[in-house]
Amino acid sequence: MEETKRIEQLRNELHRHNYLYYIKNEPAITDQEFDALMHELQALEQRHPELFDPNSPTQRVGSDLSNDFPTVVHQRPMLSLANTYNRQEVAEFYERVRQGLQGEPFEICCELKFDGLSISLHYEHGRLQRAVTRGDGVQGDDVTPNVRTIQSIPLVLPPDAGWPDVFEIRGEVLMPWASFEKLNRERQQQEETLFANPRNAASGTLKSKQPAVVAQRQLDAYLYYLLGDELPADGHYENLVAARSWGFQVSQHMRKVSTLDEIYAFIDYWDTERKNLPVATDGIVLKVNSQRQQRSLGMTAKNPRWAIAYKFQAEQASTTLREVTFQVGRTGAVTPVANMDPVQLSGTTVRRATLNNADFIRALDLHLGDHVLVEKGGEIIPKITAVDESFITPDRGPRVEFITTCPECGTPLVRYEGEAATYCPNDTACPPQIKGRIEHFISRKAMNIDSMGPETVDDLFHRGLIRDVADLYDLTVPQINGGNRNRDISARKLFDGIRASVAVPFERVLFALGIRFVGETAAKVLARNFKSIDALAAASLDDLLAVSTIGPAIAKSVLEWFANPSHVFLLERLRAAGLQFEISEERKAAQSNRLEGKSIVISGVFQHHSRDEYKALIEQHGGKNVSSISAKTSFILAGENMGPAKLEKAQKLGVSIVSEAEFLEMIGE
Ligand code: IVH
Repeated sequence: MEETKRIEQLRNELHRHNYLYYIKNEPAITDQEFDALMHELQALEQRHPELFDPNSPTQRVGSDLSNDFPTVVHQRPMLSLANTYNRQEVAEFYERVRQGLQGEPFEICCELKFDGLSISLHYEHGRLQRAVTRGDGVQGDDVTPNVRTIQSIPLVLPPDAGWPDVFEIRGEVLMPWASFEKLNRERQQQEETLFANPRNAASGTLKSKQPAVVAQRQLDAYLYYLLGDELPADGHYENLVAARSWGFQVSQHMRKVSTLDEIYAFIDYWDTERKNLPVATDGIVLKVNSQRQQRSLGMTAKNPRWAIAYKFQAEQASTTLREVTFQVGRTGAVTPVANMDPVQLSGTTVRRATLNNADFIRALDLHLGDHVLVEKGGEIIPKITAVDESFITPDRGPRVEFITTCPECGTPLVRYEGEAATYCPNDTACPPQIKGRIEHFISRKAMNIDSMGPETVDDLFHRGLIRDVADLYDLTVPQINGGNRNRDISARKLFDGIRASVAVPFERVLFALGIRFVGETAAKVLARNFKSIDALAAASLDDLLAVSTIGPAIAKSVLEWFANPSHVFLLERLRAAGLQFEISEERKAAQSNRLEGKSIVISGVFQHHSRDEYKALIEQHGGKNVSSISAKTSFILAGENMGPAKLEKAQKLGVSIVSEAEFLEMIGE
């Protein structure tokens, strides 16, 4: 079959399977079959760049083009809802509506209030055109490339489903509890700050500059408001049912009612039942169903008069504090943890809550045996919000004191000026610090030794086989299997995984070392600028600060790390094991600063390199690839068939256009 046809056929088929899988929960083919179709499409699209379509199913994986977000003015402002917290206020709303409609009968659509961030999606001719965040209600961020990665948002609507040619649909982007918990587990392993709740995680993710990161994070979306000049019905509920048939994810839990008692019943039901939902909700939304009636009710300065939000109480429970334990992390930071009598909270049994740090404990004036109030307001990690003073008796238990020595190794703890955390300074011999550093070293974004998990680290540590990361490279298969031949296969796999890691590029080795404040990005920047571990070790404070994105905290930390003789010794052992301590010759030869400080947009189709190759070339020469044109863009690297809209925008902003040949000359190729 002709390839163009096949591409179109594959795109349609994949859109349909996507819908069956993510919206209907009725997959018609296996994941493998799905992947096979996807791969076929990817291969064909690579051969036919001229058929590029931003709404192709392949685009959901997210390109790694970085993007800054253009601001867009909403065609219709995105209003927010007035909040109520009790039945009385709900009754008052109902009464206001009744009077406003002068006795005319009306229906109320009851919906869940999803706790994420609102999004406005524009469709034209059945295709997603633009996705904009709420922003300040008048204008928001255009986050279309990120939204394209959300699997439950249709990119292309099924033909002949009856959708209007132009419409807007609004809804909430969310991170389901399961994805949120997985993400935080990963972040905990990396000792990255945790997201407090799924809403923050969803919002942080949607504003990520890398669509590929968004794609990994598994966001979801529920749509709850259809707008446009040619909608199928006058009823809001009916319009959403129609939108569902066009492939949008519309909650199955909305109900149309007409009495106040039915509204109360809906509220009561969901007040408890919401704990069983896969996503976070923080209330109920009540909307007058008829759009004609909505218009006649109108709005106040800020909110529509035809809708209201009823917010659930943040869940609280009271229990008894039994013990405070202290946990030591990879960096030596000591976290106090409250151990309490088990109590039911938001559908889970809570036994432990974080107490953050010494100041937090002092502010609560916490004593053992106190009755404490625990809250889980969307936050996954429960927190103690107060001591229930009505229970305090004269024989109150002892005051909770922060420990002064490390619970793991006995070393006196220290607190650095200006920091809330307390640290165990014994980084060379304190077991959780050693294990934490090894876990960081082997993690995916570092050395990626995926045949090894935390249990193996623990096991090898307890058997005295590993005390630092260099010990990994001295391990033998018999040592790993502990003399048990039944474990030969997994031991061999682990051994091979460790060997293979010597090929990991220098920038990731640098990240793996776990130097404080040197995260993935800083490691890349340092590797690019200093090119080898020796040059980095020899760098002075001024040398480090001369690198544009390196600030004093990172610079000082790097200096301190290399000044420690045990680290110098560790590096020598890792060097002997064959790890990459400099950027590869190819990378070095290819690198220059010719594009330093330049923001470059890539557009169109190219002859000599693929788009990804051009992106890599821009970075190699010190430039930055951005995805949309703004006044700050230095120039556009334009291939053939650059879109007319981009051209116009470039001309308007006076951004120059550089051809493929000119660009290659610029970088000396
Ligand atoms: S309707 C004019 N329906 O709650 C009507 N909003 O302040 C506007 N939300 O910004 C919104 N679930 O982010 C509506 N079923 C639902 C909702 C919902 C969550 C959010 C939305 C909005 C905020 C209201």
